Amino acid sequence: MPDLPPAAAEPESRDPLGLRFPNTARVWNYHLRGKDNFEVDRRAAQAVEEMSVKIGVPLAADTAVEGRHLLQRMVDYLLGQGIRQFLDLGSGLPSMANTHQIAHRTVPDARVVYVDIDPMVSSHASARMAGANVATLRADLREPERVLGDPVVRDVLDFEQPVAIMFICVLHCLWDKEDPWAVVRRFRDAVPSGSHLAISHMTNEIHPQGAQAIFQMTQDLHWNTPLVSRSRAEIMRFFDGFDLAEPGLVSPAQWRPYLDNPLRSAQEDGSGGAPALRLVVPERSKEDRGAEWHLCGIGVKP
Ligand SMILES: C[S@@+](CC[C@H](N)C(=O)[O-])C[C@H]1O[C@@H](n2cnc3c(N)ncnc32)[C@H](O)[C@@H]1O
Repeated sequence: MPDLPPAAAEPESRDPLGLRFPNTARVWNYHLRGKDNFEVDRRAAQAVEEMSVKIGVPLAADTAVEGRHLLQRMVDYLLGQGIRQFLDLGSGLPSMANTHQIAHRTVPDARVVYVDIDPMVSSHASARMAGANVATLRADLREPERVLGDPVVRDVLDFEQPVAIMFICVLHCLWDKEDPWAVVRRFRDAVPSGSHLAISHMTNEIHPQGAQAIFQMTQDLHWNTPLVSRSRAEIMRFFDGFDLAEPGLVSPAQWRPYLDNPLRSAQEDGSGGAPALRLVVPERSKEDRGAEWHLCGIGVKP
């Protein structure tokens, strides 16, 4: 085996930000047209896109943009179900519309905790997203007890009331041997009836060759996490103990498209001033092809 850093590993002291290798948070940020990435990330992102063009599969950038549209639709749906608390796990670098900005459009006192393992995500998130009813935490979601017991989380979220547990584009960063299903179960068991689980996960159902090529690339280029695409059945297992809401486990573009209502102006973050974040989600490409890399759904805990 080559000298691979373990998945989402604590960066080495000589490279505290993990700049030697591509980083999933920063590659995703590049695909979302953000500026919080480095040459090593841009090269990796471009390699993924070149591979995609070569074998004729959808671009990662389209997938990333679709993911932000999906986030908006899911948050608005959850608010409509009465959810007022969000635990956004693997939240990523702040970019475009984030969970609290979507929620606060209609429910200003909705509470949001962002959790991410990455040091750069953590410093950017706390600088740019902290505020009333919003907290950020640097933590490893593979340690649910640590996340659930953290005073920051306990301070913002009331675990006697329903919570939305959100794993948007992150569970594929975990290896099977890390048992991501047990991780989800632990969060499930910590929340009361009426809580929801929202997932978007890379799948190998539609483009198996592309999924394998991306996984191999994460290994060959020593990304800080793998990208493990899973089958429909494997992704469905995350919803054990939840009732899957309509339309079930589908491609993001098929998940309640009529709810699409992205933040379109800087004023919509409630500040009314200069935007701290780029809030406008670009229009989706006409074919919506980016949707095909993922399966997503929302379940409710009975
Ligand atoms: C592809 S990005 C998705 C970001 C965001 N949820 C979105 O949909 O745009 C995956 C994020 O998960 C984070 N992540 C990966 N493994 C993690 C772990 N074990 N614990 C917490 N965060 C993790 C990465 O740092 C990255 O920010």
